[in-house]
Amino acid sequence: MSTSGTPIGNSIIGAPVTRIDGSLKVTGAARYAVDHPLDNVAFGVPVASTVGNATIRNIDTTIAQRMPGVLAILHHGNTEQLFRPAGQLEQNSRAGEARPPFEDDKVYYYGQYVALVVANTFEQAQEAARHVRVDYELHPSVVDISAAQPPEGPPRIHYARGIADQAFDSAPVKIDETYVLPVETHNPMELHATIAKWDGDKVILYESSQGVVNHQHVLSEMLGIPLDQVQVLSPFCGSGFGGKLFPWPHSHLAALGAKRVNRPVKVVVPRSLMFTTVGHRPLTQQRMRLGATQEGKLLSVQHDVLQPTSMVDTYVEQCTGVTTMLYSCENLTANQTLVPMNIGTPTPMRGPGIVPGLFPLESAMDELAIKLNLDPLELRLKNYAEQDQSFSPVRPFSSKRLRECYQTGAEKFGWSKRTPEVGSMKRGDEILGWGMATATWHAGRGSATVRVRLNADGSARATCATQDIGTGTYTIFAQVVSEKTGIPIDKIEVVLGDSSLPDGPTSGGSTVTATVLPAVTQATQGAVDRVIAAAQTMPGSPFQRVSAGGDPPALKMTAGRIHAADQPPESGVPFQEILAQRRLASLEAEARTAPDPATTHQYSAHSFGAQFMEVAWDPGIARLRVSRALTVIDGGKIINHRTGRNQILGAVVMGIGMALFEETIYDPRNAKPLNNNFADYIVSTNADVPDLDCIFVEYPDLHLNEYGARGIGEIGLAGVASALTMAVYHATGVRVRKLPVRIEELMAGQQRIA
Ligand code: MOS
Repeated sequence: MSTSGTPIGNSIIGAPVTRIDGSLKVTGAARYAVDHPLDNVAFGVPVASTVGNATIRNIDTTIAQRMPGVLAILHHGNTEQLFRPAGQLEQNSRAGEARPPFEDDKVYYYGQYVALVVANTFEQAQEAARHVRVDYELHPSVVDISAAQPPEGPPRIHYARGIADQAFDSAPVKIDETYVLPVETHNPMELHATIAKWDGDKVILYESSQGVVNHQHVLSEMLGIPLDQVQVLSPFCGSGFGGKLFPWPHSHLAALGAKRVNRPVKVVVPRSLMFTTVGHRPLTQQRMRLGATQEGKLLSVQHDVLQPTSMVDTYVEQCTGVTTMLYSCENLTANQTLVPMNIGTPTPMRGPGIVPGLFPLESAMDELAIKLNLDPLELRLKNYAEQDQSFSPVRPFSSKRLRECYQTGAEKFGWSKRTPEVGSMKRGDEILGWGMATATWHAGRGSATVRVRLNADGSARATCATQDIGTGTYTIFAQVVSEKTGIPIDKIEVVLGDSSLPDGPTSGGSTVTATVLPAVTQATQGAVDRVIAAAQTMPGSPFQRVSAGGDPPALKMTAGRIHAADQPPESGVPFQEILAQRRLASLEAEARTAPDPATTHQYSAHSFGAQFMEVAWDPGIARLRVSRALTVIDGGKIINHRTGRNQILGAVVMGIGMALFEETIYDPRNAKPLNNNFADYIVSTNADVPDLDCIFVEYPDLHLNEYGARGIGEIGLAGVASALTMAVYHATGVRVRKLPVRIEELMAGQQRIA
């Protein structure tokens, strides 16, 4: 993969610093959830329902209970009395599924946990789980969205400005199409897993989690024990993609099992149950209507979304939000309707709402461009939103360089050489197809608390409860501490992923970088100020001498030295000498930062991007390959060009999967996932991924934080599927409105054309 994008100046902020936790990962020393070595661990294996909708008549454990090594079998009939039933969760905590496991005798979806077998070994628990007999009284399963009944009443989300229906009716050019996105399953490499260990009344949970603080809150509430009696640890996470944002029932089960057998209990969710019990991106059926002038100015946009949720929780995939802000249009309506079905609860998956919402919008824009005989990029420029019209009154963007993304991308990709006729661009036996799409993601920032300690041995340590899910969070903490102190990166220890540390944010919504940077900055400055104070009061200190008879000189810390602000760093004293002379092992400071509510509502803050894709279609052997992918991102200041670029390219790889491969397929009788394994659920592999490139147009978004950094974890996925289906159309003449692209559809389309 090629490299582009260079850090500005010599600052470590922006530099392509290698992950500070990288060597731990590649040497196997990094401890993921189940790697934590605990004594006397027992193993819990869940028994999952094999039906979609039922009442449990009886659970017969007679055989299983007598099997070797079995310690306990928990189910609704013997477990509910252990703890208080969970009430309504606090406003700020969120579980993957609000209903605690084993609450009653009801089965609401295929794969729901109905029992947990705990045994001395994993094999014993697994074997015994196979011998638990569950007798169900079956009810009809609602698993087909076209047969399901949307609830009565107004849609779950409704947005309107102007008079979209009338404007559509009178528009000279119209597009009215329905797009369908299938269920996608996150499938992180690391399975969801928990080791629960009780220490008296306190439970310690070793998790694979994107949010240890939220996890602590939810388990405290669901288990009915005080917050300080729950500790959640997730020092490393083998990715989550949103699936590990919120706790799922296996964590609760591990805690219950450990309490019952009075030993630590390890529960690993098997890959097959990763398709039912830990969330998924829901199916969406989206009708998109665009009305435009002959010149290509949008007159009306109408976006209507139908989406299933589960019977036990409400999850809204917010697809329409992006439609309301991306292009300039006076008349716009958006509606989202939820349909409860007998499936596991959906949950955010990388780029929730916006990624699936952009597909119909960007696809319809392409269809409109073709109808108008306009270049698709030109159509987007004609409808460029200078302000965010979704607000009333409209809001300016905090920083928007989308035009530059389009322009840079078009130049680098060679867009002007595109000939628009279907099948007109050839390379040997292959037909090339080109597509482009807009990408966007909202720029959020929350609150965080960080503690920074400067040690007498010349090292530093930063701590926060937030976690690094593979994105590079450890590394940016160290970069900021290093920048503010001059302490080299390899002398900075960063400790994250422990709910007992200062409160930190969930790794979600691409917000962690913007959220933690101000807190790391302030905490570091606080620690430096304490060292400076120590220096100023140090008997015999050069800083006291200099100031004899007057005010002490203003001091600062650079290159690891405390020095007079108007003198070069070399004139100063290494900070560790000051600590040593004052006989201090360390000095530390803590800072809590939060966005300023006054400015938060002044601006609309989003990242933007443009994605250009090329596919190569060989009709002779029916082979479709992605051959080029260029992404240009306006994501504010990039704090680390290596991990940042890695985020974008990884998201593009995921987007290729979304466009061409990923789909969870269900048995229409009971919503059993049929391709619930890595052989049949297809994701992008090396052979599917071409040379990828990514360019950052770097304009700091200073309304968000002092570095001007926005999060970039999700935006790289946003336009990929749209740009790819557009490229597929350009190559083959087949418009794919139902993802993923299927080779058989392309072959059938070719026959129709021939
Ligand atoms: Mo992301 S879906 O907020 O982990």
